[in-house]
Amino acid sequence: MSFRDEIKNIMERDPAARNIFEVLLYPSLHAVLLHRLAHRLYKADLPFFPRLISQISRFLTGIEIHPGAKIGKNLFIDHGTGVVIGETAEIGDNVTLYQGVTLGGTGKQRGKRHPTVGNNVLVGVGAKVLGAITIGDNARIGGGAVVLKDVPPNTTAVGVPAKIVAFRPDTNAINRRVENLPDPEGEMIDALQTKSRELEQRMSKLLHNQLQTHMEELHELQHEHHLTEELEQRLIQLEERLSRLEQGLDKVLVKLEPEPPRKNGNGHKHEEIIEGGTKSL
Ligand SMILES: CC(C)(COP(=O)(O)OP(=O)(O)OC[C@H]1O[C@@H](n2cnc3c(N)ncnc32)[C@H](O)[C@@H]1OP(=O)(O)O)[C@@H](O)C(=O)NCCC(=O)NCCS
Repeated sequence: MSFRDEIKNIMERDPAARNIFEVLLYPSLHAVLLHRLAHRLYKADLPFFPRLISQISRFLTGIEIHPGAKIGKNLFIDHGTGVVIGETAEIGDNVTLYQGVTLGGTGKQRGKRHPTVGNNVLVGVGAKVLGAITIGDNARIGGGAVVLKDVPPNTTAVGVPAKIVAFRPDTNAINRRVENLPDPEGEMIDALQTKSRELEQRMSKLLHNQLQTHMEELHELQHEHHLTEELEQRLIQLEERLSRLEQGLDKVLVKLEPEPPRKNGNGHKHEEIIEGGTKSL
């Protein structure tokens, strides 16, 4: 990319840039041009000089870009101070970074350990994008965000740790609320919750029915128990009455029993002369 293109890019991207002379003062221009030189020397395996150029650039602009970082066309670093771009970072075309942005490592990875930033990405003031993660094309990172996971294309991530809050179906579309993003995990959790609620309802219905059946059986048993008790009482009463009747009958029978024959004076049985014979008394 030529010097002219770099100036044109800044003029297009920064509404505050009024003329070429002003743009010549922009730290973004100095940092990017010096980085392109340092990166060429870095790729040529020249020792020391790439790092020297990078440090001079940092001293002049407050922007530290490691000579190993790969930077696409039209990078614009607004204001500049405090921007840090790590060795294995990769930046696509038409990217805008504001002051204080870090494209850094987490300190836990080796090899590729810095972010890969897609085309047309905007990274807001002070945002920290850490680790070998990917920021998709047309993504926007809010000022002050700490991004630790991949950010899908056409989305906006904000906060600490950064979360996706908005998405755009295509580049020029307006933002849509993230609630409308396809969320298969969320949908699965919702489905599981619905299922578990359904099962709970069925279980409680079943338990209720069983309880009702048991209660009815219990009532029947209680009823039968009462009946049995009543019958037992009546049986006892009947037995008592029967025994009383038996006693009464015994008395009557005793009364009805014939008296033993009385003896007359001569020691013979008293006999009554009745018609046709005698009858002992
Ligand atoms: C993130 C940003 C790029 C806006 O992107 P966008 O896709 O247009 O997002 P929106 O403005 O629609 O905001 C989406 C949601 O994120 C919130 N949000 C925006 N930026 C935020 C931030 N930096 N931190 C926390 N939340 C933020 C908004 O309030 C909104 O929330 P809501 O939906 O509950 O109302 C912008 O807010 C930003 O941070 N730009 C950086 C600019 C910068 O660094 N300027 C420095 C100049 S010196």
